[in-house]
Amino acid sequence: MSKSAPKGRKASFSEAEILKLARPSIQALKPYVPGRSIEEVKAQYNPARIVKLGSNENSLGANPKVLKAIAKILPKISLYPDGSSRALREALAAYCGVSADEVIVGNGSDEILLMIALAFVKPGERVVVSENTFSEYEFSGRVLDAEIVKVPLRDFRYDVAGFAKTLKLKPKMMFLCNPNNPTGNYFTHAELEGLLKKTPRACLVVVDEAYGDYATEKDFPRCLELMKKYPNLLVARTFSKLFGLAGLRLGYGLGDAGLLRETLRVKTPFNVNLLVQTAAVTALADKAFVRKSLAVNNKGRLQIEAGFRKLGLFYLPTQANFICFRVPRQAVDLCEDLLKRGMIIRALKSFGLPEWCRVTIGTKEQNAFFLAELAKVLHP
Ligand SMILES: Cc1ncc(COP(=O)(O)O)c(C=O)c1O
Repeated sequence: MSKSAPKGRKASFSEAEILKLARPSIQALKPYVPGRSIEEVKAQYNPARIVKLGSNENSLGANPKVLKAIAKILPKISLYPDGSSRALREALAAYCGVSADEVIVGNGSDEILLMIALAFVKPGERVVVSENTFSEYEFSGRVLDAEIVKVPLRDFRYDVAGFAKTLKLKPKMMFLCNPNNPTGNYFTHAELEGLLKKTPRACLVVVDEAYGDYATEKDFPRCLELMKKYPNLLVARTFSKLFGLAGLRLGYGLGDAGLLRETLRVKTPFNVNLLVQTAAVTALADKAFVRKSLAVNNKGRLQIEAGFRKLGLFYLPTQANFICFRVPRQAVDLCEDLLKRGMIIRALKSFGLPEWCRVTIGTKEQNAFFLAELAKVLHP
C-alpha cells in the first residue's frame, strides 16, 4: 500500500510497484522459519528459567579455548581476513584426509548449499529433495527458478530408492540430508551407493551431513570413500552443531576439486570472517571438547528416550543431536505451553509434521527439565 509521503519525501514503493520490479518466482519463496530465541521467550513470557533445546546447537555452550583464541585475534578485526581461508581449508583437509582444493568454506552450510546450486542449477532444471526435511534445499533450487521434485518419506525415513526413480526426469541436482533433520534417522552407505550407481555424472548428488558428526552406526555412509568412485557426490557439513559455532557461522563443502573450483566463482570475496577462521582452526584441534560433546549427546539420548518411554510417547531412532517425537495433540500448541514454562523445543508444522516435535539432546540437567515440563503439559 502506498502511503502519503511526508513533505519533501517521495512516497514509498507500493505493493504493485514492488511486484513489477521483483523476480516473479521469488514470490513463492518462504522465509526460513527459525526456532524461538531465548530473548523472544523472555520478552513474551518471562519464565523463571529458560532452557533452549530448539535449534540443535551444542548444549555445552561455547568452547572456552575458542573464546580465548577469538579474544586474541580481536585486535586484528580492522584488517580483511584471508579471502581464500587457506589455513582453515588446510586444517579441514587434514581433518578429512583430502586435499585443500577439495574443500570450500562458507558462511554456514546454508551458504555452501546455496553456492553449489548457484554454480550449477540453471532455470527450469530439476532439483530433487525429500518431503519433511530441512527447507534450504528447496529454497536453493527455487531461488534459481529450478523445478522442485519432491520424494515423500517412507516409514518416516528417506526413500533413497525413491530418489533413484526420479532419475527418469533427468534432474540436475539432488539434495539429501543424512541424518535427516527433523526425523534424526539415517540412510545407509549401501543405500547411498545404490543411488550413486544409477545416477549419471550430469546429476550432482549433494549430501548434507550437518549432523553426521554424531552418527555412530557402522553402516552410516562413508562419503569420502564414495567420492573417489563417484565424483558427482558433494558433501556439506557444519561447525554449528558438534563444534558449537552456530553464532559465528561456518560450513564446509567437500568434493571434486574441479566442481568446487567452479563453485567458488559465485563466492563473495570474504565470506568467512577473521573470527570464524580463527575459531574453527582452534575448535578443530580441540579433541577433548568434541569427545565431551559426543559423550553428553550419547548419554542424553538414552535419558530422553527413557523419559519418552515412561510418558508413552512414540519417537524415532536418532543418529543426530536431537530426537523427533509424536505428541497427542497439535504440536504447535504443546510447544507454546512449554514456552510459557521456559522450555524451548521445536514444533514440526513447518516441516509438514504437525503432530511431531523435535528436541535437541541437552545436558543431564537440561534434559531433566525438559522431561519434567513435558510431563506437566501432557498431564496438567
Ligand atoms: C540439516 C541441516 N543442514 C544445514 C543446516 C545449516 O547449518 P549452518 O548453521 O551451518 O548454516 C542446518 C541447521 O540447522 C541443518 O539442520
